[in-house]
Amino acid sequence: MLNPDAYVGELRAAPGPLEDRARPGASDVVRVGVIGYGYWGPNVVRNVRGLDNAELVAVCDKNPAALRRAGRAYPGVHLTTDLSDVLRSPDIDAVAVVTPVWTHYELAKAALENGKHVFVEKPFTSTSAQAEALIELAERKHLKIMVDHTFLFSGAVRKIRQIVDAGTLGPLYYFDSKRVNLGLFQHDVSVIWDLAPHDLSIMDHLIPERPEALVATGGNHLNGLADMAFITIYFPRNLIAHVNVNWLSPVKVRTTLIAGKNQMLVWNDVEADEKIKIYDKGVELTSGEGVYDLLTSYRSGDVWAPKCDQAEALKVELGHFIDCIQNDKTPISDGLAGLRIVRLLEAADRSLKDRGKIVVF
Ligand SMILES: NC(=O)c1ccc[n+]([C@@H]2O[C@H](COP(=O)([O-])OP(=O)(O)OC[C@H]3O[C@@H](n4cnc5c(N)ncnc54)[C@H](O)[C@@H]3O)[C@@H](O)[C@H]2O)c1
Repeated sequence: MLNPDAYVGELRAAPGPLEDRARPGASDVVRVGVIGYGYWGPNVVRNVRGLDNAELVAVCDKNPAALRRAGRAYPGVHLTTDLSDVLRSPDIDAVAVVTPVWTHYELAKAALENGKHVFVEKPFTSTSAQAEALIELAERKHLKIMVDHTFLFSGAVRKIRQIVDAGTLGPLYYFDSKRVNLGLFQHDVSVIWDLAPHDLSIMDHLIPERPEALVATGGNHLNGLADMAFITIYFPRNLIAHVNVNWLSPVKVRTTLIAGKNQMLVWNDVEADEKIKIYDKGVELTSGEGVYDLLTSYRSGDVWAPKCDQAEALKVELGHFIDCIQNDKTPISDGLAGLRIVRLLEAADRSLKDRGKIVVF
């Protein structure tokens, strides 16, 4: 069983304005209220309940049927349709916002204004201006924001991060991620805002450089919102990333290729075992005798499959959130990480509207 603290120690320190801030009175248990008990909320609630250093105090949903479901699963937990029961309660230290994206800003803002730490779903906000305002508010109130970039806490991504950081792949050439399946269609956001935050946050976590430019193309076939998209992100030093998200695929594909000068990695998240494979393969060009005489040599060596931790990503992540509150640490997916992703999503919308016009950062 993985210790969330051990994971935190594995990672580069996330830079951010919340770092080094003295926060008095770290208590034994962080008391949590969850807003939103639809599709994803039950996962957050279940994992909060599973943590030793957190206490699930209340679940709020404006839909009484959702609350009845929560009540059957967690008898004794305070259930409410009234937001202020959670936002104003002196018995709650942290609020998880697990509602549709267009509600994130108002709910997170109200929680911060009432002195609560905030765990907010991806994508962080609907606009970068909202994200900036929340970061500023949290900083002023000495509170934590953590954005649910769940995959960063999966065994696979943690392993890939170690491999990339150790330089095993060599200088990176590209990151190429495919996340396609049939549905789940969302009525309020496009496939870019729904699925791409996963791939973009993984990319952001693995590549320390900041993007220089972005190009997005895609299509909408049903309700006017993009249901498939191809996003290309340009980084310094000729590193390129590509993300393909699609709700209209007959099959589910979750594959990421990461190639470096020395080795190449394939992560297939639908595999039960051996999700990650590393190929000792590469190409080298060397010049022959004449100036135009280039020789191509292909290297094809061993393939190995590193073991990945099986712990549930959301449990590791929520454990990290609680640890950050108790020990005044900066969350790995803090508000700034959330803001970086929202900026990419906005750029993708702009580029898509102009049929692939390049957006330079
Ligand atoms: N991290 C992940 O892997 C992951 C997976 C799925 C969804 N999500 C994110 O979770 C969020 C919620 O998605 P979902 O699929 O659960 O949506 P959903 O529509 O199934 O559920 C949202 C719930 O929030 C409730 N709600 C909405 N506004 C409210 C308000 N003002 N006060 C109280 N309750 C309110 C609704 O009644 C509903 O029960 C989204 O931001 C989505 O992107 C994240």
